[in-house]
Amino acid sequence: MKTLSTIFYFFLLCVIVFVRCTGDKSSVSIFPKVIHPMDNQSTEAKIALGKRLFFDKRLSLNNEISCASCHQSKLALTDGKSIASGVEDRLAFRNTPSLYNVAYASRFMYDGEIKSLEEQVLVPILDHNEMGASMGVIIKKLKAIPEYQDAAREVFGRDFDAWVLTRSIACYERTLISDNSDFDRYYFNKEEGAISESAKRGWKLFSEKLKCTACHILPYFTDFKMHNNGRTSMNSADLGRFRINNDSTDIGFFKTPSLRNCGLTAPYMHDGSLETLDDVIEYYAKGGGQGVNQERRIKPFVIKENEKNDLKNFLKSLEDY
Ligand code: HEC
Ligand code: HEC
Repeated sequence: MKTLSTIFYFFLLCVIVFVRCTGDKSSVSIFPKVIHPMDNQSTEAKIALGKRLFFDKRLSLNNEISCASCHQSKLALTDGKSIASGVEDRLAFRNTPSLYNVAYASRFMYDGEIKSLEEQVLVPILDHNEMGASMGVIIKKLKAIPEYQDAAREVFGRDFDAWVLTRSIACYERTLISDNSDFDRYYFNKEEGAISESAKRGWKLFSEKLKCTACHILPYFTDFKMHNNGRTSMNSADLGRFRINNDSTDIGFFKTPSLRNCGLTAPYMHDGSLETLDDVIEYYAKGGGQGVNQERRIKPFVIKENEKNDLKNFLKSLEDY
C-alpha cells in the first residue's frame, strides 16, 4: 500500500514538473483572447496564406507595392514617412498607422468608418494613390498563380477570389499582437527593474498629472475611439471624420492611435506633421493646436526639461522587441 501511494505521489510530482516546464510563459497575454468573426475562423493554413499575400507586391497595379511596403515590421508596421506613398510614387492621403493590435479594434482608419478588417483589405488595393489596382485584374492575376489557387482550394474549398483574399489577410492581421514591452513587464508582471526610474516618473506624469490616459488607455494605449486633440483648422486639407457624414461636429475628430511602439512610428499624427516625440510633448504642453472642436481636456501644462525626458523615456518603454 505504502509503495503504491509513493508511486502515486511520484507520478503526481512528475505531472506538475512537466506542466510547469512546458508551460509557455510568453504565450500568456495581458490581452483577452482574440475573437474571430463567425465567417472567418482562424487556422494556421489561413494565416500562412494571408501572410504571403500581405508581403506580395503583385497585389498592386504594377507589382511595385505590397501591404508590407507601407506597414514595415522594422518600423512597427509603419513606413517612417509623413504621408504614405503608393504606386508610381503617388502621394496617399494620410500617415501610415501601425497595425499592431488591430485585432482588438472595431473601427478602422483615421475616420473610423470601416467596420471590419475583412472590408478594410479592399481599401488600399483599390485606392488610386496606394496600390492603384482593380479587383477584376488582381483576382485574375492571383488566381493564375498555382500557389495561390491551390491554397485557396485547400483552405477555403473554392477558387481564389475576393473572399479568399480578404479573409486570409484579415486573419493574418489578427496575429499582429504587441503586448510584450518593458512597460508591460513592469506594470503587468510587476518586474520592478524592467524600466528605468525616469520611465516610472514618466508613467506617473502620463497617467496622473497629465491624464493622457483619458484617451490613450491601458492596455492598448488607445480607446479605439474618435477624439479631437486640436490639429484641424477650417482650411486643413483633412477634416477628419467630417468627410464621412459632413457633420460639422465631426470636424477634427480622428481615431486615437495606440502609443505602443511610438518610439518607432515617427512622424506622428494623421498628417505626419510632428517629427519627434519632443514635438508631440511640446504640442500638448501648449494646449494642442486650438483647432476646430478641440476637446476641452486638452489643456496647456507646464513641464520641466527633466520631466519631458521622463515622459519620453516612458513612451519609449512601450516598445516591443
Ligand atoms: C501606400 C501605403 C499603404 C499600403 C500599400 C497599405 N496601407 Fe494600410 N494604411 C495606410 C494608410 C495611410 C492608412 C490610414 C488611412 C486612413 O486613415 O485614411 C492605412 C490604414 C490601414 C489599416 C487601418 C488601421 C487602423 O488602426 O485603423 C489597416 C488594417 C491597414 N491599413 C491594412 C493594410 C493592408 C491589409 C494592406 C494591403 C492590402 C495595406 N494596409 C496597404 C497605408 C498603406
Ligand atoms: C482627448 C483625447 C486625447 C488625450 C487626452 C491625449 N491624446 Fe494623444 N492623441 C489623440 C488623438 C485623437 C491623436 C491623433 C490625432 C491626429 O492624428 O491628428 C493622438 C495622437 C498622439 C500621438 C501620436 C501617435 C501617432 O502614432 O501618430 C502621441 C505620441 C500622443 N497622442 C501622446 C499623447 C500624450 C503624451 C498625451 C498627454 C499629454 C496625450 N496624447 C493626450 C487623443 C488624445
